[in-house]
Parts: sequence; structure tokens; C-alpha cells
Amino acid sequence: MKIIVTGGLGFIGSNFCRYIVNKYKQYKIYNIDSLSYAGNKDNLKDIVKMPNYYFFKINICDKKKLEEVIKKIVPDCIINFAAETHVDRSILDPQAFIKTDVIGTFNILELSRKYKVKKMIHISTDEVYGSITKGSFSETDKLDPTSPYSASKASADLLILSYIKTYNFPAIIVRPTNNYGPYQFPEKLIPLMITNAIEGKKLPVYGKGLNVRDWLYVEDTVCAIDKILHKGKLGQIYNISSKNELKNIVVVKKILKLLNVSEKQIEFVKDRLAHDLRYSVNPKKVFKLGFIPKYNFDEGIKLTVDWYKKNVWWWKKLKTKPEFKNFYKKQYK
Ligand SMILES: NC(=O)c1ccc[n+]([C@@H]2O[C@H](COP(=O)([O-])OP(=O)(O)OC[C@H]3O[C@@H](n4cnc5c(N)ncnc54)[C@H](O)[C@@H]3O)[C@@H](O)[C@H]2O)c1
Repeated sequence: MKIIVTGGLGFIGSNFCRYIVNKYKQYKIYNIDSLSYAGNKDNLKDIVKMPNYYFFKINICDKKKLEEVIKKIVPDCIINFAAETHVDRSILDPQAFIKTDVIGTFNILELSRKYKVKKMIHISTDEVYGSITKGSFSETDKLDPTSPYSASKASADLLILSYIKTYNFPAIIVRPTNNYGPYQFPEKLIPLMITNAIEGKKLPVYGKGLNVRDWLYVEDTVCAIDKILHKGKLGQIYNISSKNELKNIVVVKKILKLLNVSEKQIEFVKDRLAHDLRYSVNPKKVFKLGFIPKYNFDEGIKLTVDWYKKNVWWWKKLKTKPEFKNFYKKQYK
């Protein structure tokens, strides 16, 4: 099978590429990534020389360049991970989110149609449903996004659903919950807390840290997408969760405990605008495909903390880049 993965140098995309090129040696993986601030060649250093892995530095908003590659490869499947992904950045400057998450997805849809790609898997997010006080959202629930990030992701989902209905377009939408694990850019909650704690810095926590997120270890996400790739039904939406809901403050305290750092390092800061209180989705549909999560939060967070402790070389240089430093200054001033 020939698979184009977009955004394969980011956090989840790189974990996915590594897993697939090793598990399915007969598949060919073509990674398309623009190398935005969140894309990092170090993420796939270990697989660049594999004979079934290929990389193209292309922006999915550049339809002409994207077309050249799709036309040349004519893939069996395109899996779209490429996106602007940080809610806080979307609040500071939404434009890039509209470009990549909406226009970029539109380009993939149009070119997939033109070159008759047999399957497109779009990685969406649980954030498109918005907040829920009790219970969990299922795939048929209405979308109620609250940040420019989640609104841009929801827009892409609606566009894809319209293509499924109008053109019988062969797409599948996947909505995972909050991921964590190796190779996550250190601006996101878990890697930021781990790396700040290791560096002896304050740990900025929004509000009182009461927001609930459903934490999914990245290896579980990748296995679920593998199941969906091989067993998922075209035209369907699949939530992915391993049912590990925790308040942010609980997550931060667990990290501090694993690192033996004092809770006095926590600094409560001004809350995020329109901060959704709780995300929760029902994953029974993906469980029916045979997906069984391997990691509970205590297991996953231990592996994650150990990885960041062992791989200081990976994150230290990212934290000294202007893209990280300027954002951090603006956000936590
Ligand atoms: N991380 C999470 O917790 C989470 C949860 C649910 C869904 N998702 C979704 O999963 C996908 C991957 O998330 P992630 O956390 O790995 O993101 P990330 O920010 O770590 O990586 C995004 C990747 O996309 C690339 N990219 C950005 N704009 C591009 C463009 N215009 N053209 C080509 N490449 C571009 C970047 O260079 C980077 O490699 C996203 O679609 C995101 O919305 C993420």
C-alpha cells in the first residue's frame, strides 16, 4: 500500500510514521511536511534511511506542489495529520489555522478527488464537540467549537462530511482526545510541565487547574489509527479515547511527584480565554474495530517523563528557538 502522510514530522504524525514503516515493511510511506515551527526532522532521525520511507518538504496550502507529488505517487491512501494545533496560538493569531487546517484540507480533498485516491483519513480532534459537563459525546453529536483552533478543525470536518455526501468521497474522520508521549513539542501542557520542572522553572497552570482532559498515550492513538486504516468504514467518524480523564492540576502534581520536584513550583496564571472545562468522548465505535488501549495514565506518564529525562538534547534546543521563546513570553507575561 502507498500511503501519503501529511504532518509526519510533528508529534502524532512522526509516531505514526515510525510505527507503520516498521510494522508494514511492504508499505511505502510518503511524508509531506512543511517543517513549520512544530515540525522537526529529529523526530524521525531513526527511520530516514528505511527503504520504505520518503520525505517531501511541501506546504499543503501550496496546491501546485502538492499536486505534483500526488500525481507522481497516486497513493492508495492519504492520512492528514498536518495542522496548526496549539489552542493558545490560535487565540493570539488565528490566520495560520484557517490557512492550514481549512484551506490545506480543502486542497487534499480536491486533489484526492482528481487523482481518485481510494481513501482519505482525516485526523480531527475531540475539541470540535466543545465542553460537556456530564457524560460523553458520540460521533453523531453536534459540533460546538469554542477556539479558533477547534473552529478551524470543525470547519474541515464539515467540509469533508459535505464531500462524503455530495461526491461519495471515500473519507474517514478520526477524533482523538488529548495526546501525550515522546516527541511532543514542549509548548503543550505535559511536555511544558515536565521540561520546566527539570529546568527548575515555574509551572504555569491556567486558572485553578480544574479543566478536565481525557489523556491518550500517543502509541495507543497510533494503534487505533492503524485499526481504522485497515478496518474502518468509509464515510464514518471514529472517536478515540482510552478513558483517562483527569483535572490538569492532578496531571501536573503527578509529573512533579515522578520528578521529585516541589509543588511550590506551580504558578497559577490567568485563565485561557473561553477555556473549555471538560472534554469527553465515547470511543465504543473504535473499540468495536478491535482497538484496545494499552496504557492507563500512570503508565503512560511514567514512560513520558522518562523519555523527556533521557532526551534533553531533543527538547532543550526547541526551547531556545525564537518561535518558542516569543510565544512563551507573550503567553505567560
Ligand atoms: N496533540 C493532540 O493532543 C491532538 C489531539 C487530537 C487531535 N490532534 C490532531 O492531530 C494532528 C496532529 O497533531 P500533533 O499534535 O501531532 O501536531 P503538531 O503541531 O505536533 O504537528 C503538526 C505537523 O504538521 C506540520 N504542518 C503544519 N502546517 C503544515 C502545512 N501547511 N503543510 C504541511 N505540513 C504542515 C508541522 O510542520 C508539524 O510537523 C492535528 O491535525 C491535530 O489537530 C492532536
